[in-house]
Amino acid sequence: MSDLNDAWGRLTRAGAAAGARRIVSLFDTEPDRLARLSVDAAGLELDVSKQPWSQGDLDLALGLARAADVEGARRRLFAGEAVNASEHRAALHMALRAPKGSAFRAEGVPVSQEVEAMRVRMADFANRIRAGDLRSAAGKPYRAVVHIGIGGSDFGPRLVWEALRPLDAPIEVRFVANVDPAELAFALAGLDPAQTLVVIVSKTFTTQETMTNAEAARAWLRATLGPPGDAQLVAVSAAPDIAQAFGVPANHVFGFRDWVGGRYSVWSSVGLSCVIGLGPQVFERLLAGAAAMDAHFQSAPLPQNAPALLALAHVFNRNGMGRPVRAVVPYAQRLHLLPNFLQQLEMESNGKRVDIHGRPVAHHTAQAVFGDAGTNVQHAFFQLMHQGTDVIPTDFIAVREASEGDPAAQKILLSNVIAQAEALMVGKSEAEVRAELAAKGMAADEIETLAPQRTFPGDRPSAMILLERLDPERLGALLALYEHKTFVEGVLWGINSFDQWGVELGKTLATRVLAELKGGKPGQHDPSTTHLIQRLGG
Ligand code: F6P
Repeated sequence: MSDLNDAWGRLTRAGAAAGARRIVSLFDTEPDRLARLSVDAAGLELDVSKQPWSQGDLDLALGLARAADVEGARRRLFAGEAVNASEHRAALHMALRAPKGSAFRAEGVPVSQEVEAMRVRMADFANRIRAGDLRSAAGKPYRAVVHIGIGGSDFGPRLVWEALRPLDAPIEVRFVANVDPAELAFALAGLDPAQTLVVIVSKTFTTQETMTNAEAARAWLRATLGPPGDAQLVAVSAAPDIAQAFGVPANHVFGFRDWVGGRYSVWSSVGLSCVIGLGPQVFERLLAGAAAMDAHFQSAPLPQNAPALLALAHVFNRNGMGRPVRAVVPYAQRLHLLPNFLQQLEMESNGKRVDIHGRPVAHHTAQAVFGDAGTNVQHAFFQLMHQGTDVIPTDFIAVREASEGDPAAQKILLSNVIAQAEALMVGKSEAEVRAELAAKGMAADEIETLAPQRTFPGDRPSAMILLERLDPERLGALLALYEHKTFVEGVLWGINSFDQWGVELGKTLATRVLAELKGGKPGQHDPSTTHLIQRLGG
């Protein structure tokens, strides 16, 4: 423990000292910096050379990873040990995407055969729908899938669909997560119930939002097709009995195990809507890309290990330099949902204040993550990124080849991501601004007021993740990169990244409030809450 404490002490001191030096100066003092801080992993390139750490700082960060036994934790994760200790479960999402013939075990129980059988079953189901062999209750081929789920039962599939959907999809997939009836109404608008499959995705099959939407979608089918409309329901759940009790035909229930965490579940039958919409081959390629990242994470030494390096860069900023917020900006419209996905992945996994033993953590944990697609965000929050009072490190994602459209526009997109990362790091000094304004003939007193406003402090770090193209393999690798990065951070902080007790209290209170909104007996609340119940009830 004292080794770990010492390693933390060294890292935090190094972080505090790093603020006194400019990132860009490190390229002069460390001539091999770019080569050393760029790694290839599963078809992705990660460049963390625009981070505030020196070679010595990185060594300290690697020392922290060793002291926290990241390698041992990684071994236990892949061995299927109950790393989710508070729920006594393994976290074995890697088994879902492993190549055929793998031999993963969850707490000693072999799982790979069952996983492979499910992959075959999903592919067969999707192929029959895509070929028009499996028809609706009205005898018509399916043209649309409405995927109903929330949280981990939504973010991953929605992102994968947006990232890979063909322009002319023969079967369109629409997603409904929010219990706000507007989302379901928009998803169903224009669809023919006689040609629509409703896929209800919920690990527990009890989630309030999902069950409310599922009931409404079932009613929508029945309104046109009568009770036989239930034949168009599909369920994906770790609670198949509840799904069948809901009325989903037994042969339309796709299971998964409790060692699949919600936010790590897109690789399981939770991805069924994508298998149908994109085709089984595309989905298999997505899995293969993630498996390649698993292999990299398992085997690459820590200094060249992309998930470990990215985790250490984020931790250096978070804990060493006191930066609680991070932006994620994919310069790819198809990846605009990545920040949403990462919000759940990172903040639900690592937004914890006590360690695996229930003791208060010694260090701050997950960063708050926000972002959206570039270049749009340049016209939203980049003013603050460049000149605000807080330094917000950024992860950029750039894709070299466009998925579609004009290659000239793609070049413009790429020029922007490169320039933003450069501008954030290099900045523009006040002296430079003054000289420019003077050269334009501006009056001295105006220069005095304007120069500080047009100065860019720079020294704002970023990580760059490069993809040659946005294909299924690279998308799989990208998501797995962040999954493992999140895991490494959890190990460093000593927390359980695989539970989420913090979402429970709000759910419980909402049930009580709902009863009151419906006219039930008023409960004990603070005056503000009581006022809201009175104001919005009735
Ligand atoms: O947000 C809390 C949570 O439990 C997530 O972890 C999960 O992804 C989501 O709700 C949905 O749960 P379910 O798949 O059981 O409907």
